[in-house]
Amino acid sequence: MGIEQRSSAPATTMRAVVQHSYGPPSVLTSAQVQVPLPGPGDVLVQVGAASVHPGDHFLMTGMPYMVRLVFGLRRPRQIVPGMDLAGVVVAVGKDVTDFRRGEEVFGWRTGGAFAEYACVPAKNLVRKPVTVTMEEAAAVPTSAMAALQALSGIADVQPGQQVLIVGASGGVGSFAVQIAKACGAEVTAVCSTRNIDLVKSLGADHVIDYTETDFTSGDERYDVIFDNVEAQPLAAVRRVLAPTGILIPNNGHGGRWFGPLGRIMKARILSGFTSQRLRPFTSLGKREDLLVLADLLATGQIKPLIDRTYPLDDAAAALTYVGEGHTQGKVVISI
Ligand SMILES: NC(=O)c1ccc[n+]([C@@H]2O[C@H](COP(=O)([O-])OP(=O)(O)OC[C@H]3O[C@@H](n4cnc5c(N)ncnc54)[C@H](OP(=O)(O)O)[C@@H]3O)[C@@H](O)[C@H]2O)c1
Repeated sequence: MGIEQRSSAPATTMRAVVQHSYGPPSVLTSAQVQVPLPGPGDVLVQVGAASVHPGDHFLMTGMPYMVRLVFGLRRPRQIVPGMDLAGVVVAVGKDVTDFRRGEEVFGWRTGGAFAEYACVPAKNLVRKPVTVTMEEAAAVPTSAMAALQALSGIADVQPGQQVLIVGASGGVGSFAVQIAKACGAEVTAVCSTRNIDLVKSLGADHVIDYTETDFTSGDERYDVIFDNVEAQPLAAVRRVLAPTGILIPNNGHGGRWFGPLGRIMKARILSGFTSQRLRPFTSLGKREDLLVLADLLATGQIKPLIDRTYPLDDAAAALTYVGEGHTQGKVVISI
């Protein structure tokens, strides 16, 4: 197998969350399973913390059905769920030159993070800044990469621009507020009453309480709107978008079969008929983006907002909570 630097430790078996069928959180159980063996380009990580996002919920339930085309038609091919993680390098494959045993890292993989050990392709990992905890680092990858790719990548937010973040208190939104501020934008956050102080603490300049005010009825015109909720019709949201502004709809939920695909198609088609740019997107794991985020973490420009932390054996409770859609920032599993 060509594994170098195997530590004295890892046992051959480990505790992990497993699921043998799609369904509600009760399909998740704890079990002893084999510690995975790293391939040539992999790093074996002793997981310190993993985080949960709505995508984990889609994969657990196998809904929308189209996820099953990729992840297993009748049951999940990967029985250990979980994507985002932080931990300590225990061993590396023979082709891995940039990580050594004992280094603290964070990153992502598709499945396998809700466990004591996980094999992660080295290209999906970066070093964890010493100033952040395992829990904070684990909270970053998928949600913060989505926010970075939307705001810095697609919208190319510039200093002084007016940016509206809808769903500012959630996993993606809480990073989006901080990243938009780091880009120098003037940020308006849309959240509920209980989260007003929280989003201000993230740096929001203005707050709209959606339980009191419909943001689409205001006079302000935004250069960039990042809508993580899509509770309002596209036409209404476009009313408060500047004539050449960019709207990034980003709600992954939708119909049983194709999820948000119908809304995405509609926005793309409409975009061809207006000077406003409508840019639904699918975020991708990119190491260069994770490096940017590691820098922002190290310099304190972003700080993960952690709502709740669960032990590994309570992963089902963590998934239940995320599925309810009312998190304040991120939900983390501490291992
Ligand atoms: N495009 C991609 O590739 C990509 C990548 C990652 C995530 N996503 C999608 O991005 C969306 C957001 O993800 P997330 O992790 O941030 O979800 P989340 O953490 O579950 O977001 C929940 C937050 O939204 C707030 N909220 C609910 N209704 C609202 C409304 N009408 N107006 C404003 N805020 C509202 C909730 O606050 P209250 O409870 O106080 O209302 C809660 O804080 C999801 O649909 C996810 O699937 C897409």
